[in-house]
Parts: sequence; C-alpha cells; structure tokens
Amino acid sequence: MNLSLASEWKKRDLDGLLIPMYEEELSFEGLDIPMEQLLETKRFEGKVGSQYTVTRIEDGNFVNMVLLGLGKRGDIGYRKLLNVLADGFRTLKKQKVKKGAILFVGGSVVANDTYVKAAVEATIMGDYLFDEFKSKEEEEAEELSFAIVVEQPDRYASVFEEAEILATANLVARDLVNQPANVINSVTLAQRVEELGEENGFEVDIKGLEEIQALQMEAFLSVARASDIEPRLIVMRYKGDPDNEEILGYVGKGLTYDAGGLSIKSTTNMVTMKDDMGGSAAVIGAMCAIAEAKLKRNVVAVVAACENMISGSSYRPGDIIDSMGGKSIYIGNTDAEGRLTLIDAMHYIVTEENVTKVLDIATLTGAALHCTGNAASVAIGTDDQFYDDVNEAFYLSGEQIWRMPIFDEYKELIKHEEADLTNTAGKPGTITAGLFIGEFNGGLPWVHIDIAGTIWSTKEEGVLSKGGTGVAVRPLYYLAKA
Ligand code: BES
Ligand code: ZN
Ligand code: ZN
Repeated sequence: MNLSLASEWKKRDLDGLLIPMYEEELSFEGLDIPMEQLLETKRFEGKVGSQYTVTRIEDGNFVNMVLLGLGKRGDIGYRKLLNVLADGFRTLKKQKVKKGAILFVGGSVVANDTYVKAAVEATIMGDYLFDEFKSKEEEEAEELSFAIVVEQPDRYASVFEEAEILATANLVARDLVNQPANVINSVTLAQRVEELGEENGFEVDIKGLEEIQALQMEAFLSVARASDIEPRLIVMRYKGDPDNEEILGYVGKGLTYDAGGLSIKSTTNMVTMKDDMGGSAAVIGAMCAIAEAKLKRNVVAVVAACENMISGSSYRPGDIIDSMGGKSIYIGNTDAEGRLTLIDAMHYIVTEENVTKVLDIATLTGAALHCTGNAASVAIGTDDQFYDDVNEAFYLSGEQIWRMPIFDEYKELIKHEEADLTNTAGKPGTITAGLFIGEFNGGLPWVHIDIAGTIWSTKEEGVLSKGGTGVAVRPLYYLAKA
C-alpha cells in the first residue's frame, strides 16, 4: 500500500472515500448526500462503528463513499478509534477500491494529531495479511494507494512518521510470530534479528552454544537440549543517550516452538505453539521502532531462543537443575519451560548488561487466559512507579493491560523442599510463574507481562489480523520514550 498525507481530494479521481462522522452530526460539504434523510430513516446515524456505503457514478466510474460513525463527539477512546478506522478501511478494500482516501476535512470530524496517527496505524495494521506461503494465481496489477486528507499536511509530518514506524514494527512482530517453526527457529531468528539491527540501527550480539555454556546458563540449556537446533542468546543494544547511566532492560520469551517436552502437549494445544516466541517478537519489534525513531534513551533487549522438544536428551520431570544465578530448580513439569529460559536471560541482563530497570514479557501461562481472556495482557510488578509507566504506555497505544497482586502467600508457593525453587508452583499460575522469574531480577524495579492471552487472534477484526497480533510492540516503544 502507498500511504500519504494530502490536502486536496476532489481532483484525484479517487474510487473510494472513507468519511468519518460524529453521531447526529451528519454533514459534509461537497458531496450531495441527503444526510437528513439518512438520519430520519435511521439508515445511518453515526453510531460508533456503524458504516453506510453510498455508491455513485462520476464520469462513468464507480466511487464508493463509506460513511463511518465515530459516536458522540468526544466519546471515542484511542483503542476504539483504531478499530473503527481499520474496519472502515477494510470495507473499502473488500469493495476492491484502488485509490482511496479518508477525509478529515469538510465534515464534522476535523483532523488533529490523534486522528492522523490513528488513521496511519489503522490502515497499515488493517492492511496486513499473512499469506506468503499461499501460491498466488496472479500478481495484483495495481497497488492500493490511500490518502489521509487534512487541511495542512505539513503540520502532521512527524506524527505520520512516528505512527508509520510504530505500525510497521507491529507488523515485524506479527510476521515473526506467524512464520511457522520450521522456518523461524533459534538460528534463523537470530539471523533475522541481525538483519533488523542493520536495517533499523541497533547493535546485535549473538551468542552460540559454547558461549551459552561458558555463561553457565544451565536452566536455558536444559530446555534447549532435546532440540536438533542449537540455542542462541540474542542480545540487542541501542544506546541513544550514551552519557546517561540509565538502561532499560527488556527480556522476551523466545521459544520458537513449545511441544511441552516429555510433559507433552496435546495436538490441539501444540498446534499454535509457534507463537511461543511472542515475547521475543514484542521486544524485537520495539527495538526496531526505538532505533528507527532514534529515541534519546538506552535500551538493551535479550532473548534466550530455543525449542522445547522431545528426544533421548530431554530434561525430565523430577530433575533438579542449576541456573546461571546459582539457584537450584526442581522440574515438576517440562512444559513450564519458559520461566527456565527467562531466568537465565534475566540474570544475564541484570549482571552483564547493567540495566537499571527490567521488564520481561512472555507467552508464559495458559492461566493468563483465565484472568482476562484475549482482552488484556496480565502483569505483576514490584515498583508502582515503573508499573504506572507501563500502564500509561499501553494506554497510549490502545492496548490493554491488567495488574495482578503479589500477596505474601504466593511467594511461598515457588519454594521446594528438595531444591531452592520449583517450576510448577500451582495456582494462581500466572502470578506464581511471574514470581519465579522475579527471583532473578536483582532487586531492580521490575514488571512482568504475560501475553499468552493476547499474542494470537482467531479473527480478523479491527486492527487485528488472524494469527500473531504484534501485542506490546507499540507499548514497549512508548515506555522507552517516556
Ligand atoms: N507456552 C505455554 C503457555 C501458553 C499457553 C502460551 C497457551 C500461549 C497459549 C507455556 O510454556 C506452558 O505450557 N505453560 C504451562 C505451565 C504449567 C505446566 C505449569 C501452562 O500454562 O499450562
Ligand atoms: Zn510450555
Ligand atoms: Zn511455552
């Protein structure tokens, strides 16, 4: 898609128009649509998310005008706005429009930074479809061009640019998640990150098996051992403010496939487990945006990438293993592998990369779906200020997050009589899994985010496509920017 800002639209022989309107404020200059009639006959009242298509013939050509309701003036939040705009954009695409525009002029909805930003993000994200493995009958002849029409395009150049960076980074993450595990594994993921570092301007340091062994990452290595593909420790560094000692640390779960190990998953639960590197996709996407936007901030991200498979060298339920941080761990279930890879990545980032705050993000527990379903990512944290910053970052991007409590009772549950810790602490599973990782945060301000419920969409809806959602990419950018 060719997306641009423009001021005039009448002379551009457009074949599709998206015309946002507030509820009961149906007016538009320059197109003689009898708006009062629409209202009187209740065909279209501008209710939030409603659409009404009027087609007319101009110089022998079809022009589809999709009226798009934004609800009562002042009511719509950023999350809803994104989804309503994306759905409107998709309607035009389904109508096979090739030269479209959204009009923030002439009607009740007049351009501002928020609308322009939402229009850019909604169209780029709404345009995404993962179909690269399907044979194409023929190449589409004409590329879709889409204009965001505003009074003064120059005023919105930087808003446009930032929104484009963010939406593109979100799609980088969707693509990484959607690639099947026979394509994206620990080795190819590391290669892809090297390319992305090169393209966007962050440093990438890949550590192979021998270096991981030298670092004594025993927990990570135990999980990785059964796979024929070697693990990789992927370190990404962006120093936008080198004189500042503050470094924000991001750790992302990077299981390129999770079969469950000897505690094997059912086929139904296993089939989507290419998405178990969604946490790493989030931090990789965020690093792309942070570096591309040249934020004045230092950020280091670490991913311990491997697969959780089955072979004669699998780690076993009942094993007691070591970890880089020196704590011993009882293995109650080999399917609780994410936390084992994460604690070594966490210990590494805290001790070797000197971060001053740390956030980890992971498709960690099925129990996260029992907390908030697909509607929100689930979090715990030890530092109210840092959590508030994370919360604000999610809000800015239109994504939802919900904080769970850390009661003293839960802290007892991760202990074990034969080892320092157990990887199967029981209920509440999302909180105890997070607390297990928190044992290795070096006492720094820390937030843990579980995205098992939000990494994947079963529907094409609003800005989401089927499959990977790119969750948390834009929030992690805003957190770095704050
Ligand atoms: N990768 C899964 C969690 C998951 C579930 C992600 C559903 C996305 C969708 C994780 O490694 C896992 O298997 N967790 C277990 C932990 C249990 C064995 C303590 C779970 O949640 O059942
Ligand atoms: Zn698992
Ligand atoms: Zn997993």
